Amino acid sequence: MKTLAAAFFLFIGCVSPTLADTIAIIGTGNVAKALGPEFAALGHTIVYGSRSPDSEKTQDLVSGTPGQASAALPSRAIVDADIVVLAVPGLLVEEITRDLGDLSGKIIIDPTNPLVGDWDTEMELGVDSSNTQIIQNVAPSAFVVKAFSTLNWRQMVEPGGAISIPIAGDSDAAKQRVAELISGMGLEPMDLGPVKNAHWIEGMTIVWLNNRKSDRPDFEYHLRRID
Ligand SMILES: NC(=O)c1ccc[n+]([C@@H]2O[C@H](COP(=O)([O-])OP(=O)(O)OC[C@H]3O[C@@H](n4cnc5c(N)ncnc54)[C@H](OP(=O)(O)O)[C@@H]3O)[C@@H](O)[C@H]2O)c1
Repeated sequence: MKTLAAAFFLFIGCVSPTLADTIAIIGTGNVAKALGPEFAALGHTIVYGSRSPDSEKTQDLVSGTPGQASAALPSRAIVDADIVVLAVPGLLVEEITRDLGDLSGKIIIDPTNPLVGDWDTEMELGVDSSNTQIIQNVAPSAFVVKAFSTLNWRQMVEPGGAISIPIAGDSDAAKQRVAELISGMGLEPMDLGPVKNAHWIEGMTIVWLNNRKSDRPDFEYHLRRID
């Protein structure tokens, strides 16, 4: 694995534990399995929020995550978290966010895509605004940041080359924290502005997925910064 072992080593040697965050990852699917161990390897403490925290599947994920990882029901997992990752089905974010309880002051990372369609048809966005905007409306005192929605979970772990992670959110401080996580994983954050722009980032995923299903060339997003 690319960064994981090396980054964990770096953390043990160099990073002050006072800089470590507690990160609740809601969900135990593909994205949770990619991001949890990666964030843990950067020195953060991971709590998985699962509907079945004691299941073999969840406990396997906990054991495969560096550091003091644990699992709890979602509404419990967020309580002590500085950062919450919603690695959940994209059409369920409103109810899942509501059920989490008080998210005030927390950074919420939203990797979700509100996808409608399947692999035999063209994908479309299933919401008019964006999942990020919906989450921000449900949790107005949280700092929601769109990130990690425009690439496959495998490339979160093994990028295989330069890949940009477009981010959007209304808090510059929250975006900076998320950008540090992204850079730590060997990916390239690109700030695309406020929450309202998350709609277009979700659209980038639609273009990317529909392209993958066509006979046109497959690609990853890599945005060249002009300083
Ligand atoms: N797969 C990718 O490569 C990829 C890449 C970028 C973004 N995304 C987006 O990231 C999100 C998560 O994707 P994923 O591939 O990790 O999904 P997934 O494998 O289906 O996992 C989703 C997780 O959500 C949790 N969950 C909570 N409530 C649920 C409910 N009512 N029904 C089903 N699951 C529920 C489940 O964990 P528990 O059973 O433990 O509760 C489940 O493991 C999606 O919105 C997707 O569009 C996916």
